[in-house]
Amino acid sequence: MIDLDRLQKTSGIIGNSDTIKQALEMMGQVAPVDISVLVTGESGTGKEMVAKGLHKFSKRSNQEMVTVNCGAIPAGIIESELFGHKKGAYTGAGDDRKGYFETANKGTIFLDEIGETPLETQVKLLRVLESGEFMRVGDSQTRRTDVRILAATNKDLGELVQHGKFRQDLYFRLKTVTVNLPPLRQRIEDLSLLVERFALEFTRSNDIPYRGFMPEAIRRMKHYDWPGNVRELKNFVESILVMEKGERITVEMVELKLGISQPIIQNQNLPVLVQQSPEQAERELILRQLLLLRQDVETIKAMMGQGGTTTQPVPYFHEGDVSDLPKEMQIDENSHHSIRNAAIGDMNLEELEKEAISRTLQHFNNNRRAAAKSLGMSERTLYRKIDQYDLGRKIKRSNGKNG
Ligand SMILES: Nc1ncnc2c1ncn2[C@@H]1O[C@H](COP(=O)(O)OP(=O)(O)OP(=O)(O)O)[C@@H](O)[C@H]1O
Ligand SMILES: [Mg+2]
Repeated sequence: MIDLDRLQKTSGIIGNSDTIKQALEMMGQVAPVDISVLVTGESGTGKEMVAKGLHKFSKRSNQEMVTVNCGAIPAGIIESELFGHKKGAYTGAGDDRKGYFETANKGTIFLDEIGETPLETQVKLLRVLESGEFMRVGDSQTRRTDVRILAATNKDLGELVQHGKFRQDLYFRLKTVTVNLPPLRQRIEDLSLLVERFALEFTRSNDIPYRGFMPEAIRRMKHYDWPGNVRELKNFVESILVMEKGERITVEMVELKLGISQPIIQNQNLPVLVQQSPEQAERELILRQLLLLRQDVETIKAMMGQGGTTTQPVPYFHEGDVSDLPKEMQIDENSHHSIRNAAIGDMNLEELEKEAISRTLQHFNNNRRAAAKSLGMSERTLYRKIDQYDLGRKIKRSNGKNG
């Protein structure tokens, strides 16, 4: 049996809550056994940390763990990436090539975002899971690989099965051993510990004086629901420490900072539908900021007399009491439209999309998974759009992953 304290320390998983302890216990039981493990949990809950921990405490720890982000590989080449290809299998396949399953031979393969794998590839994954057998694309020779398979998803695979998007046989095969990570809001008792560790680590390595968080500030943070989970908390702590360099963190500072990421829910005066998910709220916020930005541009143009489309700047959104606006400018509370009618016909969808994607990426510190989720598109589509709009290089890399 593995020493759970050592497992926790080595894998860097912080937390004392019962749910984290259960997850660690499960890890301790399955890490040394050569079986496949599914890690589930919302984005930012630490699935990758768990996968690394499982590998480190396995018999294969002296071999490599190959990580494959199934959601980020275009559907057309995923099989060739996973299983390799034979020379001439398709245009551009100049040489015989190994895939990840062969590279990971004797070690571990971590299939991240397995829920994003195309259905036809899932059949082949099931085969390799069950027998270790696979074929390179365009080849007729069956090959064998000796890999331990770890997989992770932030999707509800059972639900995907019901919608015909995930194979039931693969689902049953995968879910027998599952490590589930709770969202941060369900183990909020761990927040103080997480904050303290992140703050100490960050201030130490950046030579920033650290005077701690006021108890009231921590209490306020415990009332926020952290849709981006531990990743969001870590980014939050680090950026508030940078902004308030050397100061003790007060509740006002926390509220100010939280206000940026959650104003729609907090500010009941704004004419949007409340009681929506944080992702919806976030999406609306970005769109709203975009339109306000556009309004500023119009105002400047009008001021400079360069013939903007309006001389009298009108708000795309009205921030105060809507009843004093002309009828056609009011937002119909019962409809789902949040753009004023008069703004229609004056917008280029591509520009809006590009701007929305770029700003959403910035908002999530370039975490593409969180951005894709918030924008309501698949990660694969987001990657394509980033290429299409050439946004890849413009966005600052964060300290997180998914750069
Ligand atoms: N329990 C934890 N203790 C310490 N750090 C954590 C914990 N959980 C997550 N983190 C930190 O949060 C960030 C995200 O973790 P990780 O990449 O493992 O999440 P994930 O579940 O794989 O997210 P995603 O689904 O978006 O890929 C990392 O910086 C990691 O260090
Ligand atoms: Mg991950």
